[in-house]
Formats: sequence, structure tokens, C-alpha cells
Amino acid sequence: MRRQLFGNQRALRGFFLLMLALICIIALGHGEPVFGIDGGVTNIFKPLAQPAQEIKETSFLVLAVCAVIFVVVAGLLLYGLIRFRHRAGDDGSEPPQVYGSNQIELAWTVLPVLIVFVLILVTSRTIADIQDRKPPQGTLQTTIVGHQWWWEIRYPGLNIVTANELHVPASDGRGPRPTFLKLQSADVAHSFWVPQLAGKTDLIPNRENLMWIEPTKPGTYLGNCAEYCGTQHARMLIRVVVHSSDEFDRWVTEQQKNASVATNADEGRKAFFANSCVNCHTIRGTSAQGKFGPDLTHLMSREMLAAGVVPNTPDNLRRWVRDPQKIKVGCLMPNMQLTDQEVDHITAYLQTLK
Ligand code: CUA
Repeated sequence: MRRQLFGNQRALRGFFLLMLALICIIALGHGEPVFGIDGGVTNIFKPLAQPAQEIKETSFLVLAVCAVIFVVVAGLLLYGLIRFRHRAGDDGSEPPQVYGSNQIELAWTVLPVLIVFVLILVTSRTIADIQDRKPPQGTLQTTIVGHQWWWEIRYPGLNIVTANELHVPASDGRGPRPTFLKLQSADVAHSFWVPQLAGKTDLIPNRENLMWIEPTKPGTYLGNCAEYCGTQHARMLIRVVVHSSDEFDRWVTEQQKNASVATNADEGRKAFFANSCVNCHTIRGTSAQGKFGPDLTHLMSREMLAAGVVPNTPDNLRRWVRDPQKIKVGCLMPNMQLTDQEVDHITAYLQTLK
């Protein structure tokens, strides 16, 4: 009996040490992205816009309430374990058993009900605040369509179509300028998540979801698809570029222009239009009107290629045109089996799409 108790204690101690080590490893692994970098992709604790700010406040309140409960329960448990532990000379009989105490049962029924009630009130207020937000005058309306594995971004009122990099104005001195997003999907379920701007909202086929963001600080905010959507789900990154009001208006003017017609890339233009590139891509102002792939009208204004996988450099662009599968396995753009010369020409042409 005594031996067995000893063995159990050792196993228990080992288990606690293992748990402690695991918690340390997890905490260390999360510490850096969560608290270290201002622009950290997973940094839900440093919101820089509404509604992320409001969500953080609510979750901190919930965390605090839960922490108090945890400390009280774990404290009582520890107290009991230590104070009433087995001592040499105990006779090993059962302690007095308490049944049907109205006071105790009332306390542990009423207290949790009150706590849950407060949590429900706070959470519902936050949800209502966020969902019922009415777009004020001059709100930017956008439509985001999730594709395997990239984001189509439309500005219906402005006649702009782009991909993967959502440009929005900041709410600054010129008053509130929130951006409303209509979320749709072209294939499977995706989820739009830029942690420092807002919570996650799913993009579901045959359904339209709504969300809004109202950043106040210009800068680039990173996010990613947050719903498993196939092979390249992890490389379906979003960039939200927040501009000051004036800068945003300049961006709009640039994007509204048709594709530039540079004369130094005629060979490449011919190669582009002779191949099946035009079946999938649109270049506004030309006969290329394909809808399956990203709009290329102002391709060179984008920072990244392939939904955030590689920086948009001439070298990466060339590698992409040569064989997209080498950069993003399984993506829907096939290797077009172009000759080296065609690859050079088409890359040169694409670089004129500023
Ligand atoms: Cu799209 Cu995951």
C-alpha cells in the first residue's frame, strides 16, 4: 500500500513537471509574435483599429474574470491538498461527509449564474456594436472574393479591381472613413483575418458576409486566410495598406487609369496575347478580359506576388512566368511551357504594367 502510494506520487510529480515544461515552451513560442513585433501577424493583443480594439477589451475582461475564478478554485484546491494531506499516524478513515447544505449549493449555483450573465451582457453588447454599425456617408465599399489561393479585391464604386493587397484610407482629420467589406467565395470556404484590424469573418460559397474595418494609423497590416481551403491555404496572405486620406485618393486615381501602353515591350505584349494568359487575366484597356486569375492592370503597383509568397521583383516575376508550380505547388496557374525568349519578353511586358 505504502509502496504503491510512493510510486503514484513520483508519477504525479513527473506529470506536473512535464506540464510545466510544456507551458513554458508554448509561452516562449508565443511570446515573441504576440508581444515582440508591432506588425506581428498573429498579434491580437496589439489592435490598431476598430473593431479589433473593442474585441480586445471584451476578451481581456473575459480573461480577467476567468483568471480570478482560476486563482480562487486552484488556490482552494492547493490549500486543501496541503492542509489536509496524508500524515504519518493518520488512521486512514474518511473525513466527515457533507450532504444537502443549502447554503453551499445556493452559493455555487447563484455565483456562476451571475458571472455568466455578466459575460453574456458584455459580449452581446460588443457583438451588437460591431454588427449593427451603419456605413456613414462616404464609406468605402469593397468586395473581397476568396479564391484558391488568392484574394480578388473589387471597389465597385470606383471601378478598380486588384488582388491580395487591399488599400484603404485611414480615419484621420477628415472624419471617419471606415471600409466595408462584402465577403464572397469563388470556390470553397476561406476566412478573412487581419488580426490588428478585426476578427475573422468567413467567405462562404453562395453567401455574402459583411465586415468593416476602421484603421486610424497608416501602415501595412498583415493577415492570412484563417480557414483551411486546400494545399496552399498557408500561402494565402492578405496585406491591408492603410493610407492617409490624401494619399488614398492619389492611389485611387492611379488605379483607375487603364493599363499603360509602353512601346518598349511590343514583343512581350504579342507573346502575352498570343498565349492563353488572356483567358484568365484581365488587363484593363486591352482585349485581355479573363476572370479566373488576378487582374494584372497595375501588377507592378503590388508589393508581393502569388498572394504574399514572394516579393514582386523582376527575378521572381520571371520565375513565376516560367513555372508558377515551382513557387506555389498546386496553384491553378499551370506551367505554360514557354520558351526562354517568351518568358523574357512576357516578363518585360508585365513590368510595364505600373
Ligand atoms: Cu483560403 Cu485558407
